[in-house]
Amino acid sequence: MVSSHQEAIPATLIPGDGIGPEIIKSVVAVLEAVGAPLVWDVQKAGMAAVAESLDPLPEATLDSIRRSRLALKGPLTTPVGGGFRSINVRLREEFKLYANVRPAQTLIPGGRYDDVNIVLVRENLEGLYVGFDHYIPIDNDPHGAAISSGINTRAGSRRIARYAFEYAVKNGRKKVTIVHKANILKALTGIFLETALEMGKEYADRLTIDERIVDACAMQLVLDPTQFDVILTTNLFGDILSDEIAGLVGGLGLVPGANIGEHAAIFEAVHGSAPDIAGKGIANPLALLSAAAMMLDHIGRPVLGKIVRQAIHDVLNTDGIRTRDLGGKATTQDVTQALLKRVSARGS
Ligand code: NAI
Ligand code: MG
Repeated sequence: MVSSHQEAIPATLIPGDGIGPEIIKSVVAVLEAVGAPLVWDVQKAGMAAVAESLDPLPEATLDSIRRSRLALKGPLTTPVGGGFRSINVRLREEFKLYANVRPAQTLIPGGRYDDVNIVLVRENLEGLYVGFDHYIPIDNDPHGAAISSGINTRAGSRRIARYAFEYAVKNGRKKVTIVHKANILKALTGIFLETALEMGKEYADRLTIDERIVDACAMQLVLDPTQFDVILTTNLFGDILSDEIAGLVGGLGLVPGANIGEHAAIFEAVHGSAPDIAGKGIANPLALLSAAAMMLDHIGRPVLGKIVRQAIHDVLNTDGIRTRDLGGKATTQDVTQALLKRVSARGS
């Protein structure tokens, strides 16, 4: 999606639950300050929508994204165990957002690892997240057993593998590691591995392609994350490994994600609604802001994306303004003010 530089681009804005509204406010202020050509249509989803209309995913929100095909989304709370199905998963399904791209890079030197630079590409629609998940009553116990089935298709595996390899080539990456559990889940993750390896042959001249079993990968990420470049994996493993990778670069407060489909894209942080710190004004807005920078790249404004990333870098490392999750004392508001100062100093 590339637009002319004058054109205003409509986008849906979902503040979300928990810390969502606090960090969205910060990010919108920074985007405005850099002159991002986005015109927001603010819509509700999740608990915020339930409170208003009893529907966690109102038709008005879906309609807005159908029109704009572009959204920035705060985290949405999902009830654990029972209750409604994850709205995040439903949005990905509704708009066929098959690729979840989660880049993680060391932003603060002197932490656990100084040169992590990993992009995790997660299959976003299939696997164990398809929702064939239910209880079977046994005797008088309605939850006597639980059963879940995952589905990975050849077509879905090809689509995400193509995305990951093309992403790697376009972004100057050297290696793609396919992560699976095909030794145990021989069919479910075997089809994914087999399909990705087969397609990888087309890229053998441009990329190194290897594969790793998920448990070994989890361990090796902690021992030496610098051996990984792009990771291509299934839905559940991608969910778990992306939080692990966030931990390698300073935590969930820093890592963004994009949900990409052929006709729409939704940008968000990797983290959730953080109910433990909601309303306290101490949430780190930088993960969502990094997601907004990915959104600027996506709409063909990479220069603005770069300005935002530079501001994040300067605020963290030159100004030393960091929220508590990063060991600092700054509030969301302090970080926002520092970011605004940085972007306005650039005269943009
Ligand atoms: P979480 O990611 O919300 O929080 C995990 C820990 O990280 C908490 O201690 C939290 O305070 C901290 N944290 C997260 N983001 C932070 C930030 N920006 N600044 C400072 N600290 C931060 O995960 P949790 O607690 O497992 O999930 C809470 C809710 O969020 C659940 O309902 C879950 O389903 C939902 N969720 C939604 C996601 C989405 O909307 N894409 C993604 C992940 C979880
Ligand atoms: Mg997750």
